[in-house]
Order: sequence, then C-alpha cells, then structure tokens
Amino acid sequence: MDFFLVITTLTVLVASILFDWWYFLMLRSKRLPPGPSPWPIVGAIPYLVRHGGGYTKLSQSLQSKYGKILTVWLGKTPMIFIHDPELTYDALMKQGAYFSNRAKKSTWGIISSGWRTLVTSEGPWTVALRKNVMTHMLGPSSLKAFKPLRDRAYGDIVNDVRSVAAAAEDGVAQVNLRSVAFNRVFRFVLVLTFGVELEENLIQEILLNLGERFRLALKFYVGDYLSFWRIFEGDESIIGGNYCETLFQLEKGFPNFNDSVITSLCGEFLNGAIQTPTLAIDNTMALLCEYPEVNEKLYREIEAIVGRRAVDESDLPQLPYLSGVVRESLRVRTTTVSTIPHATSELRKLGGYEIPTDAVVVFVLESFHLDPTHWSDPSIFKPERFLENDLDELGSKTFSFLPFSAGRRVCPGIQLAMFEISVVVARLVQNFEWEKVPNVKNTEIGTVFRARPRSV
Ligand code: HEM
Repeated sequence: MDFFLVITTLTVLVASILFDWWYFLMLRSKRLPPGPSPWPIVGAIPYLVRHGGGYTKLSQSLQSKYGKILTVWLGKTPMIFIHDPELTYDALMKQGAYFSNRAKKSTWGIISSGWRTLVTSEGPWTVALRKNVMTHMLGPSSLKAFKPLRDRAYGDIVNDVRSVAAAAEDGVAQVNLRSVAFNRVFRFVLVLTFGVELEENLIQEILLNLGERFRLALKFYVGDYLSFWRIFEGDESIIGGNYCETLFQLEKGFPNFNDSVITSLCGEFLNGAIQTPTLAIDNTMALLCEYPEVNEKLYREIEAIVGRRAVDESDLPQLPYLSGVVRESLRVRTTTVSTIPHATSELRKLGGYEIPTDAVVVFVLESFHLDPTHWSDPSIFKPERFLENDLDELGSKTFSFLPFSAGRRVCPGIQLAMFEISVVVARLVQNFEWEKVPNVKNTEIGTVFRARPRSV
C-alpha cells in the first residue's frame, strides 16, 4: 500500500514537472521577451534568490543582461518588465485597452475583497469607481471644496516643527519630517474619507498601531469606522461629500457592493493618499539639503514672489522653480519605483515580442527617470532641466518622465499630490533653514533633519 502511494505520488510529481516544462517551452516558442531560464513549478525564483540585492538593483542587473523588455517567470506566470518609455507608450496609450487589467496572483485578493477595489478591479467596476473618485474627491471642483482642510494641514505641519524648535535648548528642531507630515496628512485624509474629526487619543492609538502592517491595520480600523459611520448615516454633523458617503450612494446601483468592499476601498484611499505624498516631501527636503544652492534659489524665488505671507496653492503657477524642484525630485527619487502590476486581456505584440493573455506587465518608471539616453547626468538633482523643456508630470511630451504612470490606470491623485508636495515643501523652505542630521542613522520611515526657524 505504502509502495503504491509512493509510486502514485512520484508519477504525479514527474507528470506535473513534465507538463510545466512543456508549458514553458510552448509559451517560449511564442516569442516572449528574453529573461532568466525558468524551472518547472518555481519559474525563475531560484535565479532571483541567487542574484537578490533588492528590487532596484535586481531590476537594473536584469535590464543590463536582457534588455529593456524582459520576462521573469514567477512560478507559471510570465512577468514582463518594461524599462523603455517608447514601449510603455505603445502598451499604455496605443494598446491601453489590452494592457490595463490587474494581475490577480497575490494575496491582494483578500485585502481588496475579491479584486473589487479601484486599484485591483477591471472593466465596469474600475470605470465606475474611477468616475466616482474623480467626480467627488479628486477632480477640480472637489479639490476646491476641500481646500480649507488642506490649508489647515499645511499650517499644522509648519507649526509642529516650530513647536519642536521652540522647546529645544538651542532653538533648532530635530525632527523626523516624514512622521510629522504623515501625522497631519493622515488627519486630513481621515476627514476626506469619513467626514469626521476623530478625537486626539483615538488618532494617536491608530498611528501607534499602524506600524509596518499598514494595510492590514488600516483594514481593521476602517472596518471599525464604517460601523461607526453607519450609526451616524444622515447625521447633519458629518461633513458632507466624504468618500465613504459617495460609496454608500454607489452601493445602491451595484450588486455585490457591500461593507467589506467599502472597507477595502476606504483603506486603499487612505493608503494611497498618505504614503506617497509624505515620502515625496521627505525625499525633496533631503535633496534640498544635499544641494544647498538649489535650496537657496528656491528660497529666493519664494521670497521674491510671495514674500513672508504663507505660500498658497494659488501661488503655484507663479513659482516655476518650485515646480521644477518638485518634478526633479519625483524623477531623481522616484516615489513609486514601478507601476502596480498590470495584466494583459489578450495576446498582444509589443516590441516585436508576443505577450500572452494574462501575463503580468510591470512598467519600471524609475528606469525611465534615470536613463542616460534621455537625461544627461541622470543622478544629479537639477531642477533647471524642467524649466528648459516643459515636461509635465503626466509625461505628455515624452514618456521619459512618468512618476504617476499613464493611460487608463494613471494615478487619479496627481493634482492632490502635486498641491500637497509643492505647498508643504515651499512653506518648509520659507520658514526654516534645513540640514540633515550628521551621524544619526536615518530611520526606515524617514530622514532626520534639523530645522532652524528663519529670522523674520
Ligand atoms: C507622490 C504622490 C503619488 C505618486 C508618485 C503616485 C503614483 C502612482 C502610480 C505610479 C500608480 C500606478 C498606476 C499604474 O498602475 O499604472 C498610482 C495609482 C494610484 N494612485 Fe497614486 N500616486 C501618488 C499619490 C496619490 C494620491 C494622493 C492618491 C489619492 C487617493 C492616489 C491614488 C491612487 C490610486 C487610487 C491608484 C490606482 C489607480 C487604478 O488602478 O486605476 N495616489 N499612483
């Protein structure tokens, strides 16, 4: 009996290895882009483990070995990495209808309530969710309506740094800027999401518990808010037009739209709206410390155009150097290294290769930004390049600058992010002289700075 079991197991194992091998050979004969040779069952995972060293390093070494479009097998799924702006333009713009699905091969299915959120869904769901978020939260009229909330957050970030400076013996604040910005943006986005101002002790508890398990913790807390919100549904004290309320409206016309989906959507909105802008603020301030002449030029521009009055979003069109600083920072320190994995809806041709149906496609934005064929001295922080050629953050002129991706899945939060990063950076430069703290190990979540209030 035992012998029979062993033979059957071995037969099944050998058959599945042979099947896998046949499957690879069949797909490879379809002219897939080159890449490390896959093994049955595990694909190229042994290669990735052997060559490790972090995403950016691995992605660069794969690119130099296999070219600007390459395949890495994750188990039985071919993942196509694209490092080339022209191929990206072809895939996202010319063939956007076929390259805009989402990969469905990860644990994301659980936190997205079965691929039904804005980031993870496809087809009519995505269209409806994107329309909802653009109409009610992130489009021009909503951004105008929510401006007072942002203004308060901008002021609070400056005041928080000022208070730390006032309490310090030498009058200089030592701060982890990302956590200061995170804290204030978090409060502002909570109001956008739920229309309620939470009590300080609850906010502190959430912030303390978020830690590294950000997404899961958010899901847990958002779940709590949702039941809280249901109790107050229709209460006049709730600030109207919040994201949660728009989802309750949407729920009425959609089957399978339930509290679990709404919880995931709110968690996703909070996550997207907080993490990347605060990282970009931290990156920009760190670069300004490394390039004091850029910092000085920026300060002079603000002083000349705005003076001592607090910089406002309406000042931004008159501050071209600030705009160059923010864009150049998004290029040199790409906040979102690559797009969220896309997937193909049918077999397509790209760059002379065949990309099979359901292949996972990742556009490596960072490599466009640091490509020496598109940028001279790509690792140098030089905002002037954005003044010389009017590249915008949508990469409309050339896809060599694409921090927010493009096409059907382009980030819907571009305008909000650009407002936040630009005004916060401007106000921080306007109010303080900055330096990175020497000999203090920068923490995982942000840089430690010293900020000296400027004399008025
Ligand atoms: C510096 C700030 C930000 C950067 C660099 C950034 C970048 C990106 C990128 C590269 C993508 C992937 C697009 C793709 O897969 O092709 C994305 C998607 C997304 N972003 Fe942002 N983002 C930022 C801020 C924001 C903000 C403030 C929000 C507001 C809620 C937001 C919400 C989203 C959402 C919902 C998606 C998914 C869109 C979809 O799948 O259809 N992002 N973002």
